[in-house]
Amino acid sequence: MTSNDGRLAGKVAIITGAARGQGAAEARLFAAQGAKVVLGDVLEADVKAVAEEIGAAATSLRMDIRKPEDWAEAVAAAEAFGPLNVLVNNAAVVHFASIVDTTVEDYERVVDINQKGTFLGIQAAIAPMKRAGGGSIINVSSIDGLQAKNGIIAYAASKWAIRGMTKVAALELGHHGIRVNSLHPGGIDTVMGNPTGMDNIDDFYRRYPIPRAGRSEEIAQLALFLASDESSYSTGSEFVADGGWGCGEFQKFLPTS
Ligand SMILES: NC(=O)c1ccc[n+]([C@@H]2O[C@H](COP(=O)([O-])OP(=O)(O)OC[C@H]3O[C@@H](n4cnc5c(N)ncnc54)[C@H](O)[C@@H]3O)[C@@H](O)[C@H]2O)c1
Repeated sequence: MTSNDGRLAGKVAIITGAARGQGAAEARLFAAQGAKVVLGDVLEADVKAVAEEIGAAATSLRMDIRKPEDWAEAVAAAEAFGPLNVLVNNAAVVHFASIVDTTVEDYERVVDINQKGTFLGIQAAIAPMKRAGGGSIINVSSIDGLQAKNGIIAYAASKWAIRGMTKVAALELGHHGIRVNSLHPGGIDTVMGNPTGMDNIDDFYRRYPIPRAGRSEEIAQLALFLASDESSYSTGSEFVADGGWGCGEFQKFLPTS
């Protein structure tokens, strides 16, 4: 398919954390490209509103990705549309604290949602994707799953784990026609990336090659590529959209163009 329309025609996708931010942007774009989408989130009213805005191509459910029974419900909702082809393991939380100030409860909560929730999603998708004859699983990691920052010990642990789990899953599932890739956003202007809703969020990123925060719609475009058959030869890989954050630091004292 070379046109910009119908790149996901006939596909059914589950997207977690779809009540807002990147998950909601992915839901809108996937549906606009012909997919049927099942939207899960703990924010039941918000995720329902996103599904209603999209219309008949979408359905929503209150879903906690830590619960296997919620995954079973999401899969059932997807298969009511048709065979399950795509899973976006997008839902996550962050916790900002130094190592000494991170309690065991803080640590376990982040790992439970981000890491265990992603594991449960991969596990839940395997049987339906085998029934579908293959599929694409997109595990949303982060730039913090490729490098690190101070103050995010639990989040970094979970996002590096997602990157590793992606490769294990790619190895186990490739011969079933199920591709598994990780997606690594940089700083994105969402509730997570801009919790206080600062108007000048772009200023934080002015040192990077693309000197602004990313938008959810920009990440959705990369997720669309991974969900579609256009990425048919990619599995077990890392796909980055970080505005060049991962390049390194720009040094003012060295020559530039
Ligand atoms: N915003 C950024 O700067 C940034 C950068 C790199 C990676 N990411 C990753 O991108 C993904 C999307 O984040 P976002 O920026 O849209 O954040 P967001 O906080 O706007 O959205 C996250 C969504 O996940 C949902 N969620 C949280 N816990 C859940 C649970 N247990 N079960 C189901 N849903 C749950 C939330 O209710 C929310 O709707 C996340 O995996 C995040 O780690 C974000």
